[in-house]
Amino acid sequence: MNNSKTIPQIIRLEEASSTNHYLRDLLARGPLPEGSVVVTENQTAGRGQIGNVWESEPGKNLTFSLVLYPDCIPANRQFLISQIAALSVKETLEAYTGDVTVKWPNDIYWKDKKICGMLIENDLSGHNMYCSVIGIGINVNQKVFRSNAPNPVSLWQIVGEETDKEAILNRFLHIFYNYYLWLLQEKQDEIRNLYRKSLYRGDGFFSFADEHGIFEASVYDIELTGHLILRLHNGDLRRYAFKEVSYV
Ligand code: BTN
Repeated sequence: MNNSKTIPQIIRLEEASSTNHYLRDLLARGPLPEGSVVVTENQTAGRGQIGNVWESEPGKNLTFSLVLYPDCIPANRQFLISQIAALSVKETLEAYTGDVTVKWPNDIYWKDKKICGMLIENDLSGHNMYCSVIGIGINVNQKVFRSNAPNPVSLWQIVGEETDKEAILNRFLHIFYNYYLWLLQEKQDEIRNLYRKSLYRGDGFFSFADEHGIFEASVYDIELTGHLILRLHNGDLRRYAFKEVSYV
């Protein structure tokens, strides 16, 4: 990525089906500079993780995607991208409120509520370049949510006033590019440590559920692959991939 202080290309759309989808379509047609961003006021078919819909009231929130070409990062280390994106959103939101954490793997929480979700899609672009499309939805000025499903909260509900979405995007991009430079400089231990410290329910024992039922455990480690290692009261360790375990 361009590591000078120049501003990356930002494509602004009134409406898109999904910014991830739009960006991936563009990439299939021709290369874009690394760090290019697509941001829209309204997604008509916003996508969440595991095939969920991402709902966002038109004009109220930040919905955007950006592209990286992280050739130098081995496939089994791609979780680092997720980590720097999560850390960047966390730090961005901390300019406005406290109590922001990263819920493994990359949801951003305020207290016990979800304020931001991410959908990261890794692809070969039409030009045989390995690319990572990072889609981020931050609930900024939405006042009411139709569904309680991901236990959503917006910045407006926290701070009681509207926040400039553009300022949030600019702050995020600035922080993110700095973390991306860390990644390119192989500062992965620093990233891992920060991520570990930023975790939702990162210290102490909490209830989790896996396919066998509910149990208590504490977070022991997050592997570079992104696997979550939980430690039971008796010291046994359990290793989970995304969606194999949930917080209760
Ligand atoms: C989740 O938590 O389920 C992931 C939500 C990801 C939403 C963002 S909004 C911008 C980008 N475009 C999409 O269609 N999804 C992501």
